Amino acid sequence: MPKALITGITGQDGSYLAEFLLGQGYEVIGMVRRTSTTNFDRIRDFQDRITVVQGDLLDQVSLINILQEHRPEEVFNLAAQSFVPASFTQPVLTGEFTALGVTRILDAVRIADRSIRFYQASSSEMFGKVQEVPQRESTPFYPRSPYGAAKLYGHWITINYRESYNLFACSGILFNHESPRRGLEFVTRKITHAVARIKLGMQEELRLGNLDARRDWGYAPDYVHAMWLMLQQDHPDDYVVATGETHSVREFCQVAFDHVGLDWEKYVAVDPKFYRPAEVDLLVGDPSKAGRVLHWEPSVTFQQLVRIMVDADVAALQQMGNHTPHVG
Ligand code: NAP
Ligand code: GDD
Repeated sequence: MPKALITGITGQDGSYLAEFLLGQGYEVIGMVRRTSTTNFDRIRDFQDRITVVQGDLLDQVSLINILQEHRPEEVFNLAAQSFVPASFTQPVLTGEFTALGVTRILDAVRIADRSIRFYQASSSEMFGKVQEVPQRESTPFYPRSPYGAAKLYGHWITINYRESYNLFACSGILFNHESPRRGLEFVTRKITHAVARIKLGMQEELRLGNLDARRDWGYAPDYVHAMWLMLQQDHPDDYVVATGETHSVREFCQVAFDHVGLDWEKYVAVDPKFYRPAEVDLLVGDPSKAGRVLHWEPSVTFQQLVRIMVDADVAALQQMGNHTPHVG
């Protein structure tokens, strides 16, 4: 039975990847950081089928100990401070988790077992103020946030450890991917959750920031499949994973409200509080290398993604009643 360690298993991607690997017959070790209360909502359904271990990207020894004790063949480093606005208010902490955390885990791999295959969760945020449209593996980077800069460090240190120590280390440059498990502060889930609340009479308006921002939005379960495929190749490499389509926040609102029969313009208000100090205006990826080498392609369209998320939020709210949080 192959064995994999996932850091960030309690996050959106970690939970989907764990389910995918269990389906492939893997033994899954999930690393979680210690907190005073557990937050296992996304992994509750299969928690009894995985091994949960405590460790933290801030703590080098915990990472080495986990690898030496559990001896995984594959490590997926998904843990990070992943919310761009928080990286402007907590830039140093973001650098510790999202940048130096990658070096800590790569060093743990180097010390514990150099045959481990390693996946680093890199991001289209590294393209930032885009230098080419669409963005591909060779496009120059220009990050626009402390998060983007931290991810860029993580990307290059992964390549550096591959070249310096001959590690099987891959960097997946993933464009935005969403699902009903997306955190409530990210724009897609903020919209679909609000649409459901408005439809059910629990909320009256939705306040958003820049409606003109454009993103290449895909479906998270498709994207964790691409992560796994990267580690099954003969040689380590870096790949863009994207749909190749771009849509604005405004369009996302339109499709989401339309789906429940509401006119988005009656409910959405722009609030400058949600503007960022520096914005990434346009992202659209060219996934042709992933298609050619990994035989990967997205299975869910933009319209389907929005509907999946709205339907899930409506269903969850109907089940839970009035006890869900309003996200401002
Ligand atoms: P997410 O939902 O925010 O999950 C992040 C995970 O990292 C959580 O499990 C969190 O644990 C964990 N974590 C944070 N700091 C940690 C630390 N110091 N030590 C150990 N664990 C820590 O993010 P996601 O959307 O699943 O994304 C997964 C990864 O892909 C992230 O690295 C993200 O930056 C990257 N990425 C995401 C996208 C996207 O569109 N989703 C695109 C490109 C790249 P808690 O539950 O304790 O907070
Ligand atoms: N969060 C949020 N809230 N974003 C808003 C809002 C709002 O009220 N209004 C407009 N936006 C715009 C943001 O300005 C941004 O341009 C866009 O919506 C998307 O924002 P997020 O959903 O927060 O995602 P992101 O693109 O900044 O970052 C996500 O994708 C990256 C990959 O490109 C995160 O998942 C990152 O971790 C990931 O690396």
